[in-house]
Amino acid sequence: MSNKVRVAVVGYGHLGRWHAQKADQFDTCELVAIVESYSANQEKAKQAHANTKIVNDISEVMGEIDAAVVVTPTSTHYELVKMLLENNKHVFCEKPLCSTVEEANSLKENLKEGLVLQVGHSERCHQAWELLNKDIGDIKGAATLKIERVAAFKGRATDVDVVQDLMIHDLDLTRFLLQRKVKSVRAYGHKIRTGKWDQVNAVLNFEDGSVAMIASGRNHVREVRSLEITHDNGCFFVDLFRNKIATATDTDYGEGEYVKEFDYEKRDHLLIEQENFYNSILNNKAPMVGYEDGLKAIELVQAVLTSLETGKEVEV
Ligand SMILES: NC(=O)c1ccc[n+]([C@@H]2O[C@H](COP(=O)([O-])OP(=O)(O)OC[C@H]3O[C@@H](n4cnc5c(N)ncnc54)[C@H](O)[C@@H]3O)[C@@H](O)[C@H]2O)c1
Repeated sequence: MSNKVRVAVVGYGHLGRWHAQKADQFDTCELVAIVESYSANQEKAKQAHANTKIVNDISEVMGEIDAAVVVTPTSTHYELVKMLLENNKHVFCEKPLCSTVEEANSLKENLKEGLVLQVGHSERCHQAWELLNKDIGDIKGAATLKIERVAAFKGRATDVDVVQDLMIHDLDLTRFLLQRKVKSVRAYGHKIRTGKWDQVNAVLNFEDGSVAMIASGRNHVREVRSLEITHDNGCFFVDLFRNKIATATDTDYGEGEYVKEFDYEKRDHLLIEQENFYNSILNNKAPMVGYEDGLKAIELVQAVLTSLETGKEVEV
């Protein structure tokens, strides 16, 4: 391979157009093609990327690429990722990696040595986690997490439940931040509009006694994205929407101040993810979010869905 990764963006819908815009910006890659099956979106792609080949199907450009960024609906991920890996292509796949644990397990056999498979768990890109890294690492004993990610109906991702659409971000974040093992899951939900689970509350119990309470909704009255961690020595609150952090400890910050508040940098998550993807390929390094993380997120999704369907706590 030359010093540029030849890449195709597959899917030019709501998010794909932004991924294509990013792929056009790096010195480390060349946007060779946009693959889009719907003619109206092909037209949009042609207008924004006049010098890029626009095709219907990935097979038309398989011989011209080293890698692909998959931004199609979740129900299509497995087939596309499988085909790309079988053809020895590096893959960045938007979250979720695929629809079921069986599919994720089956992808493992195609993940040959040297191939990069990165998953788009973009919420890991918040600068907040770097700023709070030491504080979270220093937590002694069990922690309690409260995460809320709700918004009014936007009509998107209705091929999946809110669990694969929104909650998966927070299922991944709890693992990423706490680095502890989930023991069991109990979930409660409502199918309000789409015939699928639109509002879900899940309680994750961790082996060390930590608990995460996650609320995800896509037919809500408010727009909230926040994460709160409480432990025996204090509390952190992150407003993921407004990029603000507030902390409180068991002492004070001087002069009677019990709460410290500060802003954190708003970042372009897709840009960070793609930059990492091409660097991983060119430098033969593990990606920031790899196959195992993608699989673990899907295992938790499946546990939440099983709990919703059975009305019981599910061991993980
Ligand atoms: N990381 C995030 O925060 C985030 C945010 C939004 C969406 N997503 C993920 O991105 C993916 C796409 O979401 P979206 O909202 O852009 O969907 P979308 O429906 O707006 O766009 C998908 C596009 O893919 C095209 N398509 C479908 N099958 C195809 C195929 N086989 N080959 C080529 N094109 C094909 C469709 O015609 C459509 O234009 C989903 O998996 C979703 O979970 C992630």
